[in-house]
Amino acid sequence: MPPVSAEAAGAADAVIERLPSPGEFRTAMRNFVGNVSVLTVGEGEDRSGLVVTSAISLSAEPPLLLACVNRSASSWPLFGRYGCFGWSALGAGHQKIAERFAGFGGIKGVQRYEGASWVTGKTGAPLLEDAVVGIDCTVEDMIDRATHSILIGRVRDIRIRSGQGALIYWNGTFRGLDD
Ligand SMILES: Cc1cc2nc3c(=O)[nH]c(=O)nc-3n(C[C@H](O)[C@H](O)[C@H](O)COP(=O)(O)O)c2cc1C
Repeated sequence: MPPVSAEAAGAADAVIERLPSPGEFRTAMRNFVGNVSVLTVGEGEDRSGLVVTSAISLSAEPPLLLACVNRSASSWPLFGRYGCFGWSALGAGHQKIAERFAGFGGIKGVQRYEGASWVTGKTGAPLLEDAVVGIDCTVEDMIDRATHSILIGRVRDIRIRSGQGALIYWNGTFRGLDD
């Protein structure tokens, strides 16, 4: 599909009298159920990462995923520098890990890794040892849009440890979803 032209987008804006504000958009988004996962990137003391609800499958053939990463996030530069990252889906008992990777309490960088066990994937990227699903990726592309980069990952390896439920985020709160 060709990109939507500025003319077509402008015509749509002209018939809508008042466009939703960013606050209205955020309020709407709170009603969606998000699957909570962590993106991990870097090596040794230069590791960091962030919790995301934006990571999803992009295609199966070839296996690709995408996540939207704020360019102001402290770990954003590491994706380009290392060229690989881990995507770990969290289980019902992983809320503390999610909070660390959200930066709660000002926890930064490699400190976010404390209190959990990590393995190094084939690409060299860190992955949560007991993630429900751990996906080892290389960076295929980073497409900048507005405040975020659409990070596209090419799947290089997969680990599965199901039976731990899932951690979800809904209406501003983490919730454990048991099997
Ligand atoms: C439930 C939840 C989901 C989030 N999803 C995203 C996301 O998809 N993309 C993103 O860039 N930040 C997301 N964030 C925010 C980052 O996790 C947070 O800004 C980051 O870890 C802290 O930034 P810092 O590394 O600069 O301290 C989310 C936060 C929470 C609590």
